[in-house]
Amino acid sequence: MSDSKRVPILAANWKMHKTSQEAMAFFDAFLPLVDGCSGREVVVAPSFVALEKAVERCSATVVQVAAQNMYFKEQGAYTGEISPMMLQAAGVKWVILGHSERRHIFGEGDELIGDKVKSAVDHAFSLFLCIGETLEERDSGKIEEVLSRQLEKGLEKISASDYERIAIAYEPVWAIGTGRTATLDQISEAHGFVRKLISGLAGSTVAEQIRILYGGSVKPANVKEIMGLADVDGALVGGASLEPESFAKIVKFEEN
Ligand code: 13P
Repeated sequence: MSDSKRVPILAANWKMHKTSQEAMAFFDAFLPLVDGCSGREVVVAPSFVALEKAVERCSATVVQVAAQNMYFKEQGAYTGEISPMMLQAAGVKWVILGHSERRHIFGEGDELIGDKVKSAVDHAFSLFLCIGETLEERDSGKIEEVLSRQLEKGLEKISASDYERIAIAYEPVWAIGTGRTATLDQISEAHGFVRKLISGLAGSTVAEQIRILYGGSVKPANVKEIMGLADVDGALVGGASLEPESFAKIVKFEEN
């Protein structure tokens, strides 16, 4: 986090956890803990059924609400999908796209993710584009190839001016939900590489401004050292974001 012009983002991805009632109970405990917390953006991504209530509960607080996914079409016969218009109407400002669980469990490919990114910027959302290699890809020396492909395909349909809506989340698949955090060297190397790729895609000014988050077993005990790395501008947190006290410690990472 060497460049103070990049405002850090601490984001919670709750995945398929918490009913709407449980989400409200979380906010009752969490919001007082982060009240008045400045100099960072705080984003929480609950399940679809909790979004409207979450937006209402978090209005006039430091917390912004994200959706965990979004289809790219505005409406139509797409059973089970959620459109940009539905999220706009719910008051949602952020979406997570291309999460590794979407890619690997639900078979989302780079092409579809590129369409979703385009649709999200066209509908004025801010978004997290998630990228990351599997252990097999890392072990076979394919990390750069995988990250390049995911970024290039994910961003190929947008223009340089759209990048201000985008944050990249580097989440090595083998570090997600495993308790096995990437080492500081591995994180630095990947984030430096991602920033270099963005420079090639959209120019050095965009690359200096874009925020790159790390995700994968981030917790109160390791967030400060991860956030201290030069090219890390935030964290996308799964398991450790489910408890109010734990996520509040992550949001106030300097104090750990
Ligand atoms: P964990 O923090 O549980 O490893 O999950 C990371 C993640 O996938 C956030 O999107």
